Order: sequence, then C-alpha cells, then structure tokens
Amino acid sequence: MDAMTLRRRRRETVWLDRQAGDFEAFRALVSKKTDPADWPFAAAVEKNVLIYDGREVRTIARDLEARPELMAEWVEAFSSGPGVIVVKGAIADHAVIDRASEVFNAIVQAEKEKGKAAADHFAKAGANDRIWNSLQKHALADAENFVRYYASDAIAMVSEAWLGRGYQMTAQMNRVNPSGKAQVPHRDYHLGFMSPEQMQSYPGHIHGISPVLTLQGAVAHCDMPVESGPTLLLPYSQAFFEGYLAFGRPEFQAHFAEHHVQLPLEKGDAVFFNPALMHGAGNNVSADIWRMANLLQVSSAFGRAMESIDRDAMCKAVYPALAAARRSGALTAGEIANAIAATAEGYAFPTNLDSDPPLGGLAPKTQNTMMAEALAAGMAPAAFAALVETQADKRRA
Ligand SMILES: [Fe+2]
Repeated sequence: MDAMTLRRRRRETVWLDRQAGDFEAFRALVSKKTDPADWPFAAAVEKNVLIYDGREVRTIARDLEARPELMAEWVEAFSSGPGVIVVKGAIADHAVIDRASEVFNAIVQAEKEKGKAAADHFAKAGANDRIWNSLQKHALADAENFVRYYASDAIAMVSEAWLGRGYQMTAQMNRVNPSGKAQVPHRDYHLGFMSPEQMQSYPGHIHGISPVLTLQGAVAHCDMPVESGPTLLLPYSQAFFEGYLAFGRPEFQAHFAEHHVQLPLEKGDAVFFNPALMHGAGNNVSADIWRMANLLQVSSAFGRAMESIDRDAMCKAVYPALAAARRSGALTAGEIANAIAATAEGYAFPTNLDSDPPLGGLAPKTQNTMMAEALAAGMAPAAFAALVETQADKRRA
C-alpha cells in the first residue's frame, strides 16, 4: 500500500464519518433473538429482554460460587447479549420505595415553590418532574430510608459487574405525568450527550469505550403498565459500533419506531442497560399514572485523573499571561488553545444540573470554552476571575 492510501485509510478508521455505520448490518444485528438456554440464571425472556428474580439475586449475593457467575452472565448480557436486563423486585420492601417517593414528592414541591422547573435534557422543561442529583438530596432528606434503598443487592451487584469496584453512583428522579411526551430515541452519557460534531472529535476507540464507562438503570416507584410509557428499548442495538453517530439518522429512528420493545414494570423492579442501547421514554397515555422512576447512572471509577487540581486557581493565574501573549502575538491562536487545554477543565461534567443547566445543547459550557471566549472578548482579568468564581459556584452540588 502506498503512503497516501495508508494515511487516508488510517484517518477514515480513526475519525468516524457522520454517515458511518451500515444500516443493513444494524438491521441484522437487532434482529437477533434471545435464547433462554444461553442465560441459565434468567427467570424468563420477555420481548427479547432478560428477566431476573430479585429474591434469587439476594440468595445468590451470599453464594460465593454463584455470585461471580451471575455477574458474568450480566456482563455478557450487556455487551453481546440483549444489552438490557430487568430485576423483578430489586427493592423488595414497598414501604422503602413509598417512603422514597414521599421524599421525592416533597423535594419536587419545595423546588417548585422556589420557582425552579428543572430543565430536562430530552423533554420540554416542566412537562415532566425531574430531580437532578436525587442521590444527594435523598441522603440528606432521609438518611435512614436512603441506606435501606441503596442496600439493594441487585443495584450493587449489577453496578459492580459492569464497572468493577469503586463505581460512582448518581441518580435523577424522573416523573412522567399523564400526557407526558416520549423522548427522542438516543444513547446515553458520555458520547450520547454530544452533538455529532463533538462526537466526531473523539477517535473511534473512544466510541468503543464510552459504553463501559457508565451503566444506566431505573427503579420503578409505581406499577408501570405500557400505557404509562415505560422506556422503549431496542435490544442488541448497544453492540452497533457506529451507533452514537448513526442513531440520529432517519432510517435508524424509523427502524426503532417499528421494532422497539416496551416492558411493563411493577413497583420495586429495576431495569439496567448498557448506555449505548438505543432507548427513550415512552408516551404516557394513561389518565392517572404519574410514572415515577429513579434513574441510576453509575460511572466507572476510571476516566478520572490521578491528581486533584485546582483549575479555577490555574485559570485565574494564567489568564493575564495568555491575554498578553495574544496581544503581542507571541503565541498563535492554536498555541493559545493548546495552553488553555492544559489549564482549564475541558469537560462539562460532573456539574450541578439545577444551577448549571445545559443551554442550547445537552452539555453546559466548559471552563475551557469560557476562557477562550473571555480571551477573544478581551475581558479584563478581574472580570474573568469573577466569572470563574461564578461558574465554580454554579457547578458545586
Ligand atoms: Fe437516556
């Protein structure tokens, strides 16, 4: 192969095109059928989804032989299997769920009184009720209920199976009210929260690892018949490598509309899925079901730097030097961007989504973008320092 061909091939392999991903290959992949014989721990297969019995999970949790085997089965279910499992009765005690629902209702009420209708990434603000960071708010409002809730073996074992030890729990309460509208089918965090342009700036192997950096789950806080709009899912779609870029395209959306599955859930059931699974909340066409779920987003301990760094202090310290280099022409625009990348936080998360909501996209502005904009606008160092403080305050939980 000549050098030019080699260079081009590599570029095409690493930097995915917006049109990446063959639709016929996708169609073949998602037409797979789940064979119960392949999943010895599953109590049932319903609509291609694996169903586990929470009582059995709790028994196995204490069985040193079977525990790693069940967790291994789940890993395969999330990677090359259907990509989604349901644990019936993941939280067995309905009193625990009901008390948590009361806590959530009180938080929603208090936040409404403060005039805050939580912005929602995938629905119009106010159409649903949403509590950002329900994890911390729940722990601070009723610690006893919180510990009983998160004592669930199912939640801990599924998280540890997919992410390993040291996983980071986060949660958001989502209540889709009668006549609440469906979400656009999508993939989740990380790449799933980006525009196609942003996704394209990540090399192909990052498209491969984004699914193993988080696990998505939801605990049903009430019975959720299909008319209340439980999550629409497309089993096996998580394994489609180019899906982050491809799933926004009309042919993929049309295929989802026709072939998705939807499982009714009962109070205390939990659904867990690979964040790359194509999914979206359904229409709530019921007259009187306020469909409350606590969404669990569990993150890998990895993906974080070794050292903690005070980037706010660094930004404030470095800003005057960058402004001077820009004025004098000592550094090019590209070199300034390089220096900012080593200084400022370049990622929008984690943040406080109540006070730092995404504006005009799925992710709030990063410190990196804020710094570049301030430099371009010729902002004075004191004003920039104040802006850094304001942004840091907004991001704090
Ligand atoms: Fe989602």
